[in-house]
Amino acid sequence: MSTFPHLFAPGRIGRLTVRNRILMAPMEKNLALPTGAVTQRYIDYCEARAAGGAGLIMLESMYVHPAGMGHRYQLGLHDDELVPGYRRLVDACHRHGALVGAEIYFAGRETSSPVTLTQPVAPSAVPCTAVAGGEMPRILTIPEIRDLVDAFAAAAVRAVASGFNVIEIHGAHGYLIGQFLSPFSNRRDDEYGGDFARRLRFPLEVIRAVRAAVGTDIPLLYRLSADEHVEGGLTLADACRIAPHLEAAGIDLIDVSAGIYESAPWIVQPMEMPQGCLAALAAAIRPTVKIPVSVAGRISDPQVAESILAAGTADFVTVGRALHADAEWPRKSREGRAQEICYCVACLKCSDLLGQNEPVLCLANTQTSRERQYAIRPAARRESVVVIGAGPAGLEAARVLALRGHAVTVLERESEPGGQLLLNRHIPGRSDFAALAEYLAGAAARAGASLRYGVDADQDFVLGLHPHAVVVATGAVPGIPCIPGMDDAPLVDAFSVLQKRGGGIRRALVIGGGMLGVGVALALAERGGEVIVVEPGNTLSSELGMRPCWQTVADLRARKNVTIHLGTTVEALGSDRALLRKAGQEIAIRSLDLIVPARPMVSQMSLAEILKAVPGGPAVFDVGDCVVPRTAFEAIHDAAALGHRL
Ligand SMILES: Cc1cc2nc3c(=O)[nH]c(=O)nc-3n(C[C@H](O)[C@H](O)[C@H](O)COP(=O)(O)O)c2cc1C
Repeated sequence: MSTFPHLFAPGRIGRLTVRNRILMAPMEKNLALPTGAVTQRYIDYCEARAAGGAGLIMLESMYVHPAGMGHRYQLGLHDDELVPGYRRLVDACHRHGALVGAEIYFAGRETSSPVTLTQPVAPSAVPCTAVAGGEMPRILTIPEIRDLVDAFAAAAVRAVASGFNVIEIHGAHGYLIGQFLSPFSNRRDDEYGGDFARRLRFPLEVIRAVRAAVGTDIPLLYRLSADEHVEGGLTLADACRIAPHLEAAGIDLIDVSAGIYESAPWIVQPMEMPQGCLAALAAAIRPTVKIPVSVAGRISDPQVAESILAAGTADFVTVGRALHADAEWPRKSREGRAQEICYCVACLKCSDLLGQNEPVLCLANTQTSRERQYAIRPAARRESVVVIGAGPAGLEAARVLALRGHAVTVLERESEPGGQLLLNRHIPGRSDFAALAEYLAGAAARAGASLRYGVDADQDFVLGLHPHAVVVATGAVPGIPCIPGMDDAPLVDAFSVLQKRGGGIRRALVIGGGMLGVGVALALAERGGEVIVVEPGNTLSSELGMRPCWQTVADLRARKNVTIHLGTTVEALGSDRALLRKAGQEIAIRSLDLIVPARPMVSQMSLAEILKAVPGGPAVFDVGDCVVPRTAFEAIHDAAALGHRL
């Protein structure tokens, strides 16, 4: 019997049987053409998830009219020309037994004119400050609203023509349908706004029009933000009132999500939120309807999914990033290989890439969105390769090289793998990064690489192994800034602060508010005492994109024992003091018992340089932070590129 009997029991949505309870959450990937057409790269992505065992694959929010686009490389369903491409995608997934769904949507106020090429339109003139520019939308007229209802119905007809098995109406995340429903964004006082019934009118008209256009055979799903988490927005009590109306209008499953752009962490939850964090919303909605309910929200451990189903909280689980990070999440779970899953750590890199109009890749899995490009191609000749350093770059290079057939030995000075990822262990809310280190090491070992710990590799040691090639992945360390008086100062290395739990401090100064400095400050603040962060720039954690660092920075700012000085430099240090300069003013800080330089990071490139200079020596390649200190994402992805090239 499977370890996850509820997860792998077939389930029903309307007249359709799904092979298991895993609905792949709709996720924009930025892999479409600017015309809204699907690409081969997109099909490859979906086919991999179908082959990996997902029950029903929802693609992404597909605009029903170009004026409702949210991103430049998003799928559309506004034009008949798009249908043949979707047919190919649907066929590719059906070959592996997965069903496929189209999510139809219109962005409304949550977009901008550089994308739509026209002023965004919405129920009311409520700009969305979470989208660049916070553009004022134009208020929709009644005839325009009716045209949009027709556009949803026409898109649904194209979805049926494309062979999609289900259609999901995107009523969540504060897009147009949600905008009509929510008092936060609907300030109308006509037949489409004013009270509950009139705010519900547009969503119900869309459902009825779609149902009338597609007939009764195809199941209709409705995505609902069951708590918008904004003042004046929809609450769980509202959602429980709304759900029966959706059912009565012809919906076959309610897909529970949360948030709108103004409360974005509730749409795509960061690492700091627990797994299954939206389950309570589904538990409240399920008793209000007879149709099945699914729920999303950081469900990345199959045991969490199983518990949600076993407890009767939901009938299906909507799994997004876990399947983004590992296309084989269902198969590995079913086959008792859960320990081989490449877990999503909710780092939000995917979300950030989406906002930057870049293909939505994955920190942990370099093959995601590059299924064909990074398919393993056996090396022309098996060579012996020594990888120095078992940080994220070294481990990923080792994994790919070993999979391609090379004989790979990884040498690590420390007693365990992971490099800088492990530093997150004692940072509040960031400990999941340690699990990523474990995965990368396990994946390299399963690929056939030999991992040796406690080896302080020098030139003689490496050359003694007679490798054909050496990959140097020795990382970076915090540098010591040159500040007058620093010789007397109580300086402590940032890495060692994070490596140990350590005792309490009275007052600490962290020099540098980059991602390392923010981590150090959070870890120290957790231990009590007072923490002062000094950053010459105007933002914290600037190396990470806006989304990946949002929660960590918010947590730091919320701490009463932390003071942050942006636009500030350290002019001088002493045995227990520091002199800061901010906007031309001097600030004296006294009674310091700890000073932690956390910027700049310095590449550890000397071994690479030594090995490159050996006459007739092996080919030497450097990857990761020892080339340039950056984030784990760049380190891992550069390492994969090298691994596929050698
Ligand atoms: C990169 C990215 C793109 C997303 N795009 C969509 C989308 O197109 N439509 C939608 O309903 N939700 C979208 N979401 C939200 C997901 O469907 C899902 O609800 C959310 O990621 C939480 O589930 P997870 O923790 O399993 O990823 C997106 C999430 C991410 C990370």
